[in-house]
Amino acid sequence: MSFELKTDNTLSKEEKYKSLLPQINSLISGEKNFITNLANITSALKYSMDDFLWVGFYLKDPDTNTELVLGPFQGRVACTRIPFGKGVCGASAQRKETIIVEDVDEFPGHIVCDSLSKSEIVVPVLKGGQSVAVLDIDSEVLNNFDMTDKKYLEELIKNILHLF
Ligand code: SME
Repeated sequence: MSFELKTDNTLSKEEKYKSLLPQINSLISGEKNFITNLANITSALKYSMDDFLWVGFYLKDPDTNTELVLGPFQGRVACTRIPFGKGVCGASAQRKETIIVEDVDEFPGHIVCDSLSKSEIVVPVLKGGQSVAVLDIDSEVLNNFDMTDKKYLEELIKNILHLF
């Protein structure tokens, strides 16, 4: 099924999220496949928001239960496995909270996947009180993420929780 996202570059960040989130709900409503939906969500985010360099999901590896493994993403080739507690992604999964990193060079243990990345936000996907995945977004702009991103990305995760 074809689907065209409506984007408008003149909108503010908040307005872009407000326009995008219902469109993502529609985008995934007609499809049951997990990988398909996560892949389209990463594309919708990367190409609707400003300065999103890399957008992807890391999923809890069911074989080890101790590390995250790379899932659907948009952007350059990335690290495939991140242990819980390591890097921004592993820290977010372990703490079960969103982490905003204004400057990746200042985050102890930050894992470099793309040297162009300057700032990052990671939102955990919590199911039954456990982290089952994280949504990771990198930007080539310093300090690109704020409480607006946190608010709407957490809302997005709530909207798609049934997929996990
Ligand atoms: N920077 C992340 C690693 C994943 S990439 O950014 C795609 C981290 O420190 O967990």
